[in-house]
Amino acid sequence: MNSLTFEQCLSDFQGECFRSVDFLTPFVLLAVLFGVGLWSSWRNRQAFRRARRHGFIAGFALLLSAAVTMGWFYLFDPGTIHGVETPPLSQAIFVTAATAFGAGLFLTVGSAFYALGGAVAKSIWGKAHYRGLTRGLVIAIDGPAASGKGTLAKKVAAHFGIPCLDTGLLYRAVARDTAASGGALDDAAAAVKAARSLDPATLDDHSLRGPAAGDAASVVAKIPDVRAALLEFQRAFAHRPGGAVLDGRDIGTVVCPDADVKLFVTASAEERARRRHLEHQGRGEAVSYDQVLADIRARDARDSGRDIAPMGAAADAVTIDTTTLGPEAAFDAALKVIEQKRRAAPPS
Ligand code: CDP
Repeated sequence: MNSLTFEQCLSDFQGECFRSVDFLTPFVLLAVLFGVGLWSSWRNRQAFRRARRHGFIAGFALLLSAAVTMGWFYLFDPGTIHGVETPPLSQAIFVTAATAFGAGLFLTVGSAFYALGGAVAKSIWGKAHYRGLTRGLVIAIDGPAASGKGTLAKKVAAHFGIPCLDTGLLYRAVARDTAASGGALDDAAAAVKAARSLDPATLDDHSLRGPAAGDAASVVAKIPDVRAALLEFQRAFAHRPGGAVLDGRDIGTVVCPDADVKLFVTASAEERARRRHLEHQGRGEAVSYDQVLADIRARDARDSGRDIAPMGAAADAVTIDTTTLGPEAAFDAALKVIEQKRRAAPPS
């Protein structure tokens, strides 16, 4: 009877191990990719989608280029494949293409397992989990008086079905409450007190709409502690789960420096004065165009010349000049920018 030596047993055992490892490795890797897909989809659906797309694109590109190279060898250079008179360069190219084919196949199948993990995660945790995770679209719209930013902000918000905050109203309301408390508009203590006790429910007040309220607002808006008191409310509004549109003077620069899209809406002072003048006439107010133009210039100077949060476009804002654009054309221009930004960096 033949007895095996210990060394023979060991070598058989090792051979068996390696065979089973070779067989198991791809399954283990695919299971890992499935798990990574599940985890990354649970963590951040947008990043998961990006990785899935890139995986498939890279896999298909490798498969296709390798298949074309190998096909070329089969059709036009069969000697290199069957080993007869194989030139080393052809052989190297063929081996590289075959390796790339294997890698492409693995990447494609791996991406499918990764995608499967993501699909399973979605079915387990459902849409509510993702709504909570994915920060909504935040759009910051800044610009000077009568540039059309308010109209644009409302249209954009309605288009995306998200809420809109006219932050100018906050400053207007602070000026109103400061005056109502008997304080002068440049009395920092009275204005800060008004800002800290501002009731957002009182923003829907007609008296806040007029030009006098706008001018008064730009006086209290120069007080740093007034701005600080209003900051948290604005940021909380911006970071609602569904996203938001905010318009003002410092949204892209101070309130939401991390906004997904920043627009700076402007127009010539003359055109802005013409629009404001028309509004005054519509309300039956007797004020000359020259007076309106002078007011607009004075407010621009106050808003962009102040030390704290001066009006200005953020470095990454896109400027829309509405001097020759009506509301619809301005909206179309804004939508183009928003869609471009969203394609470049979907909300995460
Ligand atoms: O509608 P209009 O552009 O004339 O004014 P508004 O947006 O209601 O803002 C009124 C004033 O509030 C501005 O002139 C600014 O001085 C101030 N404001 C600010 O400082 N920061 C903001 N984010 C919004 C308004």
